Amino acid sequence: MQKLIIKGRKELSGKISISGSKNATLPILAASILTKSVKIKNIPLVKDIFTMIDLLNHIGLKTKLIKKKNTIQIYNKDKNIHTLAPYKLVKTMRAGVLVLGSLLTKYGKAKVSLPGGCAIGTRPVDLHLFALKKMGAKIKIKDGYILAEAKNGLKGAIVRFPSISVGATENALLASFQAKGRTILKNCAIEPEIKDLINFLRKLGANIILKGRTIFISESEIRRLKVTHQVIFDRIELGTYMIAGALLTEKNLTINRIDPKIIKSEIDILRKIGVKIAQKKNSIIIKKSNRFKKVNITTKPYPGFPTDLQAQLMVLLTQVNGISRIKENIFENRFMHVPELRRMGAQIEIKNKTAIIKGPTKLTGAEVMATDLRASVSLVLAGLIAENRTIINRIYHLDRGYEFLENKLKSCKARIKRV
Ligand code: EPZ
Repeated sequence: MQKLIIKGRKELSGKISISGSKNATLPILAASILTKSVKIKNIPLVKDIFTMIDLLNHIGLKTKLIKKKNTIQIYNKDKNIHTLAPYKLVKTMRAGVLVLGSLLTKYGKAKVSLPGGCAIGTRPVDLHLFALKKMGAKIKIKDGYILAEAKNGLKGAIVRFPSISVGATENALLASFQAKGRTILKNCAIEPEIKDLINFLRKLGANIILKGRTIFISESEIRRLKVTHQVIFDRIELGTYMIAGALLTEKNLTINRIDPKIIKSEIDILRKIGVKIAQKKNSIIIKKSNRFKKVNITTKPYPGFPTDLQAQLMVLLTQVNGISRIKENIFENRFMHVPELRRMGAQIEIKNKTAIIKGPTKLTGAEVMATDLRASVSLVLAGLIAENRTIINRIYHLDRGYEFLENKLKSCKARIKRV
């Protein structure tokens, strides 16, 4: 099992380039089932993407990954298609459930493993199934699998989501694409990754209008069989490195290949804490910041503060004067990083879904264990500012969603190595 070893307290300065978004690439890979030939550029070379590609191959699509160009070419010749997403692939990467919408709308049937829970929560898919049933799908759960059928195709419907879900919005969007008649999805998630999926579906020929949290999809035919798409940058990776800069830069940390407009709420919150941020058209510069002020944050669906940056922000708040609070409103168990941070000296208490962080506290290196993707990167951030040496175990969690993490940090003078 690989580990990361970090020697802390080394100031960061230099340039970091942000990779393509994992959470935009995954639904677009699922959407590639809908047409004949798709070229996707700027994809991050991370484990979750490779798992999704394995799933597409398992279904019967032909894929060609050109790693040095971060590009994948996918062909669907509609031959030997297995409308099956097996447990062994979906259990490790729950976004595999996103093939359900595509398979159903294109082939009229799908057998997809229930994703099962993960460290941060039970992760149900009831909202996905709710939408598909509204569109006429017959759904049965048997032996841990979703058996879905739409013999005469799906029909457009008005679907009001009882609560906001990124994955359910994406599955409903994919399913609506070839449904008969118009679909209206209400109370949708509107993350930038969903807007990227909408842009991709429009290239295929979909007529989609997004108004507030309502998405209108009129009956669409596949008008283009060959499509190229460049995936947006990863705003969570960006937020992670902005926080790294806030913690450690003595001069400047420049982060490029991004669009600052997309992460306005994160920038506003970091500025409120006292982080000095200069914005350029496609880059952000984090300048030396020291007088940090405490804040109270609640994680919310976009455009609120993202749950995927909660663990990273918590590390910054350990260095802030006073008592800060983070309420985790999205997932039921997303504080697995707290016991590990406490072992490094952080003073954090949890009271019904709220983390109470007392700062500033000096962190000291320790041997710690990653538990989920974003918790593991918060341990990297803590290791970067802690005295002495930190060893992070189970870094396969990190490799699911951060491309070349140690190389990017090393290029900004961090003392970090993988063993
Ligand atoms: C997406 O997960 C992201 N994953 C997550 O990022 C992100 O944390 C999450 O959205 C919230 O922003 C991908 O895009 C691949 P949800 P998703 O459906 O779609 C409940 C990362 O670190 N819910 O918006 O699974 C659910 O339990 C990952 O990259 C239901 O109750 O999230 C949660 O409490 C982690 N029933 C809340 O809704 C459902 O059918 C939000 O979940 C679906 C979800």
